[in-house]
Amino acid sequence: MYYPFVRKALFQLDPERAHELTLQQLRRISGTPLETLIRQKLPSHPVKCMGLTFKNALGLAAGLDKNGECIDAFGAMGFGFIEIGTVTPRPQSGNDKPRMFRIVKAEGIINRMGFNNHGVDSLVENVKRAHFNGILGINIGKNKDTPVEKGKEDYLICMEKVYPWAGYIAINISSPNTPGLRTLQYGEALDDLLAAIKIKQKDLARIHQKYVPVAVKIAPDLSEEELVQIADSLVRHNIDGVIATNTTLDRSLVSGLPYCEEGGGLSGRPVQQRSTEVIRRLANELQGRLPVIGVGGIDSLVAAREKMAAGATLVQIYSGFIYKGPSLIKDIVTGL
Ligand SMILES: Cc1cc2nc3c(=O)[nH]c(=O)nc-3n(C[C@H](O)[C@H](O)[C@H](O)COP(=O)(O)O)c2cc1C
Repeated sequence: MYYPFVRKALFQLDPERAHELTLQQLRRISGTPLETLIRQKLPSHPVKCMGLTFKNALGLAAGLDKNGECIDAFGAMGFGFIEIGTVTPRPQSGNDKPRMFRIVKAEGIINRMGFNNHGVDSLVENVKRAHFNGILGINIGKNKDTPVEKGKEDYLICMEKVYPWAGYIAINISSPNTPGLRTLQYGEALDDLLAAIKIKQKDLARIHQKYVPVAVKIAPDLSEEELVQIADSLVRHNIDGVIATNTTLDRSLVSGLPYCEEGGGLSGRPVQQRSTEVIRRLANELQGRLPVIGVGGIDSLVAAREKMAAGATLVQIYSGFIYKGPSLIKDIVTGL
């Protein structure tokens, strides 16, 4: 109810400053009586996916809480699952600022953050302190200064460190802001990475006596043929799920709007249709052999339903949440 006022104030600020300030305030009120300001009691609609039971089908997408500092606050708002990260083995500062832009007229965001994060050890410490009783996804990536040919090693380091703490692990090979990262989505590079990840998962399952599913996050900017090849690889390697999609490089739906020429990935309403299309094609190709987690431009219950109708089992939000606030969680969780 009060979010329109909060948003008005936040939108006066530089987007990244607004983001930092919001996380800071959420950290401050989390676990105190003030938490009632953000708490939403929502009905439980359990969904089974990747062998896990999610208390509802709506999650927070990766990139909003990169270091896992506000897990309980987002949990209090009613998300069934929260994906933290992308985290890398070593801390890194990301690209030069400014690196986040609002395309207000299109309800979109362009970002080229470049995996700014405090490193995997710091994230794990934050996770240990959290009390969230939903499913926690941990999204992992590679450091910018790790050559892409050695990227696999970074994923394996992160996997090993987050495995005991994760409900599922998301492999991010689709950020447009780490040079070369998206090449891991294709052919031999993908097969090689997935094979190594499955071996690691098997080892870790034995050591920790629990199976943590692995999902791969893909870009919306893939041709029909590339999607078919990716689906085939995911099935062959027994990957547990696929998250579709990350941000797009396409600017056709925002051309002429302020900041539209900024480099980086575009999210929010301008990616909605494209991402739904990718989900539909992927789900068609996969035929239920692994589940699809749908993300990209969800800004209403109707948009969430479209993703489900296209074949998504679970959905996630980021940009829509920035524009609409916590009431979007309520609308979607209550309506789905
Ligand atoms: C500022 C910003 C930072 C993001 N950072 C990450 C990230 O670190 N890892 C990741 O997998 N996705 C990241 N994303 C992508 C989102 O998780 C999501 O896939 C994408 O924004 C599409 O969903 P949306 O339209 O609901 O925002 C980021 C998105 C934004 C807007």
